[in-house]
Amino acid sequence: MSSTLFRTKNIEQSIKDTEEPEHALKKSLSALDLTVFGVGVIIGTGIFVLTGTAAKNTAGPAVSLSFVVAGVVCALAALCYAEFASTVPVAGSAYTFSYASLGEFPAWIIGWDLVLELALGTAVVAVGWSGYIHSLLDNAGWQMPESLSGRDGASGFGFDILAAALVLVLTAILVVGMKLSARVTSVVVAIKVAVVLVVIIAGAFFIESDNYKPFIPKAQSVEAGGSLKAPLIQLMFGWAPSNFGVMGIFTAASVVFFAFIGFDVVATAAEETRHPQRDVPRGIIGSLIICTTLYVAVSIVVTGMQKYSSLSIDAPLADAFKATGHPWFAGLISFGAAVGLTTVCMILLLGQSRVFFAMSRDGLLPRFFSHTHPKFRTPYRPTILLGVIIAIVAGFTSLSELAELVNIGTLFAFIVVAISVIILRRTRPDLERPFRTPFVPWLPVLSVLASLWLMLNLPAETWLRFGIWMVIGLAVYFLYGRTHSRLARGEQAAGAAPGGGA
Ligand code: ALA
Repeated sequence: MSSTLFRTKNIEQSIKDTEEPEHALKKSLSALDLTVFGVGVIIGTGIFVLTGTAAKNTAGPAVSLSFVVAGVVCALAALCYAEFASTVPVAGSAYTFSYASLGEFPAWIIGWDLVLELALGTAVVAVGWSGYIHSLLDNAGWQMPESLSGRDGASGFGFDILAAALVLVLTAILVVGMKLSARVTSVVVAIKVAVVLVVIIAGAFFIESDNYKPFIPKAQSVEAGGSLKAPLIQLMFGWAPSNFGVMGIFTAASVVFFAFIGFDVVATAAEETRHPQRDVPRGIIGSLIICTTLYVAVSIVVTGMQKYSSLSIDAPLADAFKATGHPWFAGLISFGAAVGLTTVCMILLLGQSRVFFAMSRDGLLPRFFSHTHPKFRTPYRPTILLGVIIAIVAGFTSLSELAELVNIGTLFAFIVVAISVIILRRTRPDLERPFRTPFVPWLPVLSVLASLWLMLNLPAETWLRFGIWMVIGLAVYFLYGRTHSRLARGEQAAGAAPGGGA
């Protein structure tokens, strides 16, 4: 049994699979497209919304250090992702990489985990987008009925129709084709980055140095509201739940980590890239550097403009300008945020349809989903199925706890990828690696520890929910995937490689 669970997909076969015309994606993206793509998905709800929550509740002005901590964790993971993406340039990201190195069962786990990350991430961002649109509508004096804006109306029914509509429109754009969406993405990304720069440059003139005192507020003990709400690490070591202080920086880092999610999605587009070996690592690392720099600058400016304890939870960047008497800037920022969140949503949706596509192409999910559209050459079946499900979830869902669930899933994927880099170096030393992670095995080991550290700073209930999702995944794998897998059916040269076939 263990030999079938850990059967690996031959890497050369993985690459060949992508060349079967019926299952092939169009190769049209360059390094610049990928970087734009990366920035397009990375900057979103995290910086526009969670900065305020994290500063106000857990870190104070030191939230800028939380961004540094989360950025370092992501940079370590990015160096591991880049090696894999350049070695195995096929759709599916961490899923595909682990199929080629760790084996089918770990690959299933990671694929299932990525579906959680990307699908729920899409829903979270769609709801955040709808919040900004509502705020713009409010400015113009228009109100939507409560029951259609995600809040329970008089009838007790609440559906966020704008969030659901956004997901459905983006699904249609993705079905029609990659190139169109990449073009739309570049314009929107330009607007979003411009708005972030406005926050940094204009906001710098309104900084009051007193707002930085104290930079790291003293730790305060809190009622955790039921022990499951406390970070797991506090429960493990019996520490009293507290906010702020040095530990608060890490708790906040595990939340603002959401702001970095997306650079790994660049790797899911490897198969649609003209020169994946060279351009995927450039796209991943380039977009991560740009975003980390912007985040640290934004958080320094915003916590300097307004006392951390007065920052708003819903729209902290815009409201900091209102608080300093500049409502015009606030309107501009809200508009840019709403526009920017559109691309985040679209790219998360794209990434997740590609993971699903890759899993079905391998037979772990029904093969029906792996036929590309005869004209658009896009994986339209999973895109439509998942688009509709996510639209429903987005319509009925609220944000914050889901964001933590997305974070734990992503950190788990980072751990698997880092371990895979070490294993693949041993089992397939012969493979061409146009990008090599430096200091193997030390850097991947550090990446595992850093990701685990952030995971431990997430609430115990997030761990519980994550566990339940993974148990459902195990059931699906053992009831369907294990017997329907193409490797199991011997449809390809399973285990022909030295490291394969375990
Ligand atoms: N990083 C993305 C965001 O902050 C997912 O919205």
